[in-house]
Amino acid sequence: LSAAAAGVRPASHRDLDRVTELWIALGGHHAAREPAFALRASADTLARRMLGARLGDPDTAILVHEDAGALTGLLIVRVDRAPEIQVERCRGEITDLYVREPARRRGIGRALAEAGAAWARERGAARIEVRVAAANPAANAFWRASGFAPFVDVLHRHL
Ligand SMILES: CC(C)(COP(=O)(O)OP(=O)(O)OC[C@H]1O[C@@H](n2cnc3c(N)ncnc32)[C@H](O)[C@@H]1OP(=O)(O)O)[C@@H](O)C(=O)NCCC(=O)NCCS
Repeated sequence: LSAAAAGVRPASHRDLDRVTELWIALGGHHAAREPAFALRASADTLARRMLGARLGDPDTAILVHEDAGALTGLLIVRVDRAPEIQVERCRGEITDLYVREPARRRGIGRALAEAGAAWARERGAARIEVRVAAANPAANAFWRASGFAPFVDVLHRHL
């Protein structure tokens, strides 16, 4: 077990304030790169409620990385069942990943992604997806270094 992997654990309701803070920081990271991701001023309250609901959802896992009592990373992963018409039964999706800036490039992102993938695999997923913004080159490099390859291009146009 790597030092980074040893710090990964499931979040609990006691972590909700700190998980919300990390999730809002991730939102800010995205909003700075793409206005479509901007959050409202009241986002904290709504995010706390949404994250609290996800903590109680058996199809979602919220994992954190803890280092000396401080939360340094957050990953949210879910499993979705495919429509019956498809051969694939279940797929995983990593919906959120954030590592605090001073803790980056120490393997924490990798450890969280591997733990999230293992969680989805245990629930029957044979494949896992992630959506990554084209305007986020570091994350694109991270996911490719973690074995992810292009799957669907989501194109958009401002109206
Ligand atoms: C993307 C992110 C989660 C990576 O976390 P991390 O803990 O720094 O990643 P790791 O240390 O596990 O990196 C694993 C490998 O990914 C690649 N990688 C990570 N960050 C990279 C960067 N900025 N540029 C190029 N490659 C990078 C490298 O191959 C790295 O291995 P190395 O450090 O031995 O070269 C982190 O940069 C982050 O939180 N960014 C802001 C939020 C974000 O973009 N989240 C992803 C949304 S889809």
